[in-house]
Amino acid sequence: MRLKIAVLPGDGIGPEIVREGMKAITAVCEVFGHELEQEQALVGAAAIEACGEPYPVATHQLCMESKAVFFGAIGDPKYDNDPSAKVRPEQGLLAMRKQLGLYANLRPVQTFPALLHKSPLRSDLVEGADFLCIRELTGGLYFGRPQGRSEDGQTAYDTCIYSREEVERILRLAYGYARRRRKKLTLVDKANVLATSRLWREVARDLASEYPEVETEYMFVDNAAMRLVQWPKSFDVMVTENMFGDILTDEASVISGSMGLLPSASVGLHTSLFEPIHGSWPQAAGKNIANPLAQILSAALMFEYAFGLAEEGQAIRRAVEASMQAGVVTADIAMEGGKVYATSEVGDFIREQILSRQ
Ligand code: IPM
Ligand code: MN
Repeated sequence: MRLKIAVLPGDGIGPEIVREGMKAITAVCEVFGHELEQEQALVGAAAIEACGEPYPVATHQLCMESKAVFFGAIGDPKYDNDPSAKVRPEQGLLAMRKQLGLYANLRPVQTFPALLHKSPLRSDLVEGADFLCIRELTGGLYFGRPQGRSEDGQTAYDTCIYSREEVERILRLAYGYARRRRKKLTLVDKANVLATSRLWREVARDLASEYPEVETEYMFVDNAAMRLVQWPKSFDVMVTENMFGDILTDEASVISGSMGLLPSASVGLHTSLFEPIHGSWPQAAGKNIANPLAQILSAALMFEYAFGLAEEGQAIRRAVEASMQAGVVTADIAMEGGKVYATSEVGDFIREQILSRQ
């Protein structure tokens, strides 16, 4: 198969983990006989520096022409510490999500037997936890207008807004996944306070009858935050709006032992995008210490979701598990007193695993 992908390393640790992700992708292509056509483009702070815009038109064009976007991370503290900055790197990510129509962000949370000791939760609570968080990605507080400041600058406002159509399309997608999994859907909202949440519930109630085999559960977000640490195994598919999903998936990511392990797929109207959820970790940039596994697992999701190549995705997952079993891992998930490997060493090991396994 010919695979055309746009490669967007972005900022911070983005370039070095994307490099390791590409090692896994090229290895899979070698083994399975796929022809890879890849082109790199700028996004985030790197793009602002080069051309003044966080998501340049040329980058968008490349993304539109590609079958998948393999994305690293966005963000630079230079902008975080300057609230008056006119352009911010994160705007690039938001523009990209909006312009590519990526309304659903899928964040699968799984535990790895070799890493149970790394979880901040007791092993018996996390062992076997396996759920899919589906975060709405192009609506809510992130995009609602008006947003800004009053004239005297003393008041600020954001707007949370959702249409029935936006809610319905993501809920249908979520029901679709729940149907193929353990048939339980948890809608997380704040319907006791927010009008948007009440709309989500109303739409879910309307749709539930079309998916009779799926059990629909409604849960307030504060309760869900607690349940995630108290009983993570009770979730199968969790679906929620943009901001709640942002917060809860950071919380969910550490269940498996490290944030450096959680990949994501964003899907919607145009090209799908694959990225780790952890962000740009600027303090580690260039040090070759960041965990590349979430990026590499995002490559597995890319083969599965964008190209329908399940075996290829599986080959990457097996190689990742082998690296954990062999202890070829970065500091965040290394055994106490065990050897710590560099980002590039982990990537090399995984590449070799993929090449030697088939
Ligand atoms: C994420 C990130 C982004 C978000 C930031 C960088 C804008 O935290 O992908 O979860 O909030 O969506
Ligand atoms: Mn986030």
